[in-house]
Amino acid sequence: MIINSTSQRKLKQNRVTQFKSPIIIPSSQRISPVASGLNSLKNLHSHKGSSIDISNLTRLMKPTKLTESVNNLQIQVWLAKAKENIQVTTENKLQLPKKHIKFPSQQFMNFKEVVHTSISPKINKETLYSRNAFNFEFIIGIGGFGKVWKVQHKKTGQIFAMKEMSKALIVTKKSVHSVMNERQLLSQLKNSFIVNMNSAYQDRENLYLVMDYMKGGDLRYHIGKMRRFNEQSTKFFIASILLGLEYIHSNKIIHRDIKPENLVLDEKGYVHITDFGIARIAKPENNSDTSGTPGYMAPEVMCRQNHTYAVDYFALGVIAYEFMLGRRPYLGRSRQEIRDQIIAKQVQIKKTEIPDDWSLDAADFINKLLQRKPQNRLGFSGSQEIRDHPWFSQFPWNKLQNKSLTPPFIPNATDDNFDQNQIIIEDEENNELIQSNILILRDQNIQDQFQGYEFYQQTNSSSTEQSSCSSTKHSRNLSDRIQLADKRKII
Ligand SMILES: Nc1ncnc2c1ncn2[C@@H]1O[C@H](COP(=O)(O)OP(=O)(O)O)[C@@H](O)[C@H]1O
Ligand SMILES: [Mg+2]
Repeated sequence: MIINSTSQRKLKQNRVTQFKSPIIIPSSQRISPVASGLNSLKNLHSHKGSSIDISNLTRLMKPTKLTESVNNLQIQVWLAKAKENIQVTTENKLQLPKKHIKFPSQQFMNFKEVVHTSISPKINKETLYSRNAFNFEFIIGIGGFGKVWKVQHKKTGQIFAMKEMSKALIVTKKSVHSVMNERQLLSQLKNSFIVNMNSAYQDRENLYLVMDYMKGGDLRYHIGKMRRFNEQSTKFFIASILLGLEYIHSNKIIHRDIKPENLVLDEKGYVHITDFGIARIAKPENNSDTSGTPGYMAPEVMCRQNHTYAVDYFALGVIAYEFMLGRRPYLGRSRQEIRDQIIAKQVQIKKTEIPDDWSLDAADFINKLLQRKPQNRLGFSGSQEIRDHPWFSQFPWNKLQNKSLTPPFIPNATDDNFDQNQIIIEDEENNELIQSNILILRDQNIQDQFQGYEFYQQTNSSSTEQSSCSSTKHSRNLSDRIQLADKRKII
């Protein structure tokens, strides 16, 4: 399916998701559940209005000026010490001695931010970033190279998603470039419509990518359960993905693998784009970059032609079609079969096919995104064309951008938004491959290929969200920086 390096994993993913009927998962089915237990600092990081002995904290901090050079570990030591005087009753409620004051939530948030962003690679990173630094709670997804876990950082109590990728699998599938590329791009991006990276590290066997945890699960799981979405939910999803794409494109990156598996919901129901494994900096000559997922892959990529951001809009059209009709426009078991279908005819939603509760505008919008010729496709001349389509007339873009628009589809409030049955099937397939290739990890040349994977959150720049309206100057600098880094160490 995927033409080059990622072919096996995408093929497997496509095969399983395309032909399996949806499974509703009982809440008890968890893999490797770990009793996570509150650690001593968790309250300070996870609850509004947590209380600490402020006078104690001030005394501890006095000799040091709180500047960017204060490291995370130091702050944690202060917090832990300052917290020593807090008394906990048998009901686990905090009882504060008179001297103690309660942090208003805003102050608390600011303080949390300092802790979060002041981690520097120089400080005890083995303690803060290693497999042992996290409690692994349960598996929330399977990727081409291993498991994605819900984890809790033991020291800070913060919850993350952690993509654990087997080096043996990566090398066997000839995908070193893909994983290094994903880590490189993510270090340059930060936006509330994508899944942001917090840190990245490695050990002898695996790479680890620590990201925002998306409690709502992926849209493949939800479309599998729902069969179809209604027009209102679909419009909200498509608009949210568009905002994410505008940000990604403004940084001169084409995502190239937009599909329901790579669209995850946060607990409120907002969509975030993930999986930058085959994303690329846009360039005029890119006809050799033919990776993607058939079914969502634009015809120009299928046919090995040069392509632009419009490939992501074709995928957007496929997703909208699938949400409306419960099937994809071009079906097939292989890249070849799907390619033949695309070449044979231009799919168009006919009036008679439009479900009763859907508008004509919706069908027209989808038909325009699905245009085989990129020049005819909505969005070819920029995303404003998409925003200007009548389907989006009166759409409250600003409200969505600042997340004051209530999502119409709200995922389960518990952690049951992950398809455990599918996870088991795919994990078994991965494990077999890992076992038969594990010995290659003894080769230092193999290990050297992953040099530079580590990433630790820096103060300042990375903590500031770059909006999708970022200036051309910024975009140019960013893509230059990425290309430079690409040349230096990735390829
Ligand atoms: N941050 C996250 N929060 C929740 N689930 C996630 C997150 N990242 C990935 N997943 C789940 O794990 C699956 C595999 O992750 P992904 O990054 O897409 O791996 P791959 O690149 O191998 O496809 C996704 O399809 C999704 O279901
Ligand atoms: Mg994926």
